[in-house]
Amino acid sequence: MTIGVRASRRTRVARPSAQRSVIPLFPTLWPHMLRARAGAAWPFPIEWPDARDLYLARYGIYEAVKTLGLAGREVLFPAFFHSVELDALVAAGARPRFFPVGDDLRVDPDTIVERIGPSTAALYLIHYAGFPGTVDALSRVCRDRGLLLLEDCAHALLSSAGDRPLGSFGDAAVFSLPKVVPVPNGGIVVYRAGPADDAMRRERPPRIAVGAHAASSMLLNLQMRGIRGSRRLRASLIRLGRAAFRTAGVDHMPTGTPIFVPSCLALTMSSISRRILSSQDFSSIVQRRRRNYQRLRDRVGDLAPPMTVADLPPGVSPLFYPFLTDDRDLVMRRLKSRGIEIGEFWPEWHAAVPRHEFPQVDRLRRRALWLPCHQDLTDAAIDRLARAVREVLGEVSA
Ligand SMILES: Cc1ncc(COP(=O)(O)O)c(C=O)c1O
Repeated sequence: MTIGVRASRRTRVARPSAQRSVIPLFPTLWPHMLRARAGAAWPFPIEWPDARDLYLARYGIYEAVKTLGLAGREVLFPAFFHSVELDALVAAGARPRFFPVGDDLRVDPDTIVERIGPSTAALYLIHYAGFPGTVDALSRVCRDRGLLLLEDCAHALLSSAGDRPLGSFGDAAVFSLPKVVPVPNGGIVVYRAGPADDAMRRERPPRIAVGAHAASSMLLNLQMRGIRGSRRLRASLIRLGRAAFRTAGVDHMPTGTPIFVPSCLALTMSSISRRILSSQDFSSIVQRRRRNYQRLRDRVGDLAPPMTVADLPPGVSPLFYPFLTDDRDLVMRRLKSRGIEIGEFWPEWHAAVPRHEFPQVDRLRRRALWLPCHQDLTDAAIDRLARAVREVLGEVSA
């Protein structure tokens, strides 16, 4: 019967399949988020009077070094970092001196004090995974020793230490928006002493590049929901998009790549990002991230305890769930084969860091992975993720 056939087809198309769906690393773009919402309640530092928006956070790091007068001066910098943070700092003329970071992703204030020399001008502090990095004690050290504090909140939008937002402790702070909300680009730099003088004229990024990133995120959203054909469609469109960029001679605008491109210093956040931001319910995002992190910890914490503090402190909005394993590459491969995107927690050494001086950070880079806990993930998705992690860790240790 025709009606029966139609009904069963529709059911097949619409029903998400656990096999076909993916668990993405970052939140994805839902179509309704393209509708701007008036009267949005902005959290710090979005739309803050002392904040400036940029194409990505890395360009805010460059700007902060210049604005705070750190060019040519020594900045204490963690030996555990991604890579582009340091490239931006060095491009702006600062001289890094490295300090260790513990397996718990925290910085011991004594190691900072030991390294302060006559030419030290500032401390660069990363709030890894959205967890406050000893910020009270380190702010005191900076105040007492006359150092400037630069907070790297690339992972820490919406996160607080108690009731004080991260990024409000330092002389300057930078935020990376695409890690927390599904915008195609967007970084923010904010200064304690008020807005920086800025003669640079900035432009919006080219629409074609922004649209391509937004479309890719929306297709990933379909893939996450297990919509039939979405994986192939996304792969084909990415291929087509790249070819179109090449043919049109348009520069690829890097998002999700650790590259510092000086020409991007002259760009702002895109208007699509602004519109997507206005559609977000920020307090629900924090609640969902906290719930997912705790649910993951309850389900896998015995096999893969989080590297961060055991309890989730009030105010923290976790970016992800970091853990250590001796079988990093195997665990990653096996989870990926189950449709789970898993984060590599910075396995590569930057050439500027004397590796032999930081054996413990070397161990960290060889063992650290991270699991997503973002707001797109439902209880069912977290349970699937946790089951897969338990299976894989069981297999590799057998
Ligand atoms: C700790 C840290 N800081 C800064 C950045 C740079 O952020 P963006 O990609 O927005 O430039 C990253 C990106 O990976 C990061 O992990």
